Amino acid sequence: MKLSRRGFLGVAGAATLAGCGLDPSPGQTAELLTSAVPLPAAFKVPLPIPPVKRPVRSDAQADYYRVVQRKASLEILPGLRTEVLGYDGLLPGPTFDVRSGRTSVVEQVNQLDVPTVVHLHGGHTPASSDGWPLDLLMPNGEHHDHAGHHGMTGGDVKTGSRSYTFPNTQRAATLWYHDHRMDYTAPQVYRGLFGLHLIRDAEEDALPLPAGDREVPLVLADRSFNEDGSFRYPALKEGPGVESRYMEGVIGDVQLVNGAPWPVLEVDAARYRFRILNAANARRYELALDGPGRFVQIGSDGGLLDSPMTHETLVIAPAERFDVVVDFSQYAVGTAVTLKNKLGTGRAAEVMRFVVAHKAVDDSNVPAKLSSYAPIPEPGGLVRRKWRFRRGSAGEHRGWTINGKPFDPEVMQATVKLDQYELWSFVTDVHHPVHVHLAPFQVVRRGGGPPGPYDAGWKDTVDVRPAEVVDVLVRFTAHQGKYLIHCHNLEHEDMAMMAAFSTV
Ligand code: C2O
Ligand code: CU
Ligand code: CU
Repeated sequence: MKLSRRGFLGVAGAATLAGCGLDPSPGQTAELLTSAVPLPAAFKVPLPIPPVKRPVRSDAQADYYRVVQRKASLEILPGLRTEVLGYDGLLPGPTFDVRSGRTSVVEQVNQLDVPTVVHLHGGHTPASSDGWPLDLLMPNGEHHDHAGHHGMTGGDVKTGSRSYTFPNTQRAATLWYHDHRMDYTAPQVYRGLFGLHLIRDAEEDALPLPAGDREVPLVLADRSFNEDGSFRYPALKEGPGVESRYMEGVIGDVQLVNGAPWPVLEVDAARYRFRILNAANARRYELALDGPGRFVQIGSDGGLLDSPMTHETLVIAPAERFDVVVDFSQYAVGTAVTLKNKLGTGRAAEVMRFVVAHKAVDDSNVPAKLSSYAPIPEPGGLVRRKWRFRRGSAGEHRGWTINGKPFDPEVMQATVKLDQYELWSFVTDVHHPVHVHLAPFQVVRRGGGPPGPYDAGWKDTVDVRPAEVVDVLVRFTAHQGKYLIHCHNLEHEDMAMMAAFSTV
């Protein structure tokens, strides 16, 4: 058997390789897994739009929903069937489209054959509903011994169904929900357990942004497939985690947008608002458009920017969201505009295509002032914490660590006071998209200099590149309990690159 090239590299070696041009996957900390089926032709399948989830009932404060986690056989690649684990049997799951300040109560029913955990990424959520990785929802009818489950205790385990309460007490933003089961998040998200959760508010409604059919989610994810059409994933045969070769992360050779391979969308020659989510396990993208099109960024993970920012290309790490406007009136009717990925080679260099089909009236606009969001000036006398994201040292821990420790749900790596800003520094060896639960943060420095071009606004995930330091200001409010900071490369997360902290 061929030994993993990466397996022999120390931390310094891996950091040097990333992005130096010798790497087959430039700009990635990940390994390519190829499909055993011929890849489908690009730009044939129309872009699907995930359905909006309807509440089963509503009262003065809350909307109540019911989601069934079930297997479904979907035609993702033309002519083949893929079994997915889907919220309501869909990939991506249904989109929640809710109002700021109105509570969503979501009853999740597990009809799968694996335990699940639901986390609302970017949510300001009480700890009991935040998807602590051991707060398992066991499949219905599965009889088990709680304490004996992987020998771990301390989780609030339920069987069959459980209700998650999301207060949505936060500004309008593009959030997403996904599985967060300890040690198994990567394969379970890969198989389909992810979807969008949009929050809207009056401030955003008042803007003349493109809306209706011209507000389109683009959920990016890459996958690989076996001969029979099933998802190909290099899980270890025994126990959690991936084969050593894929420890740096799994990237697939089929590019999906909203669950369809290299889809195509017919557009009017008008402005469109795209809510872009990188839902891939490990792949980073640098998105670019053919021709004159630019990305006018209006929002980040945590909602609107104060004013729009124009980007020629958009670098987006796993779990980040970019809310952008693209103006197709710059193209002649009939033009095919490919959305490309400059970090991808071969088929991975393309993501999807827009075809400018009609002239159209467009009364949308991107105002120069978008919101009351403002950068926080860095206060003096801050509590400072360093979070070091590194490969586990050989012999000690096969996987990834934060501050030298693999995830231990019994260990709180920090106790953080509510209502005060802290300065957190994220320090890396290779690429690690760092995510913090409960509160958004603002990037104040990258590599000792000013924030980068993609760091604006309220963020909950930040793309920290090899051997880099990113400083952020973060303040937690309202909810006391146990929360997480982790790497959102899901293979890293499962291989223990996660730490718990408590808010008091
Ligand atoms: Cu998107 Cu802790 O997760
Ligand atoms: Cu999260
Ligand atoms: Cu990582």
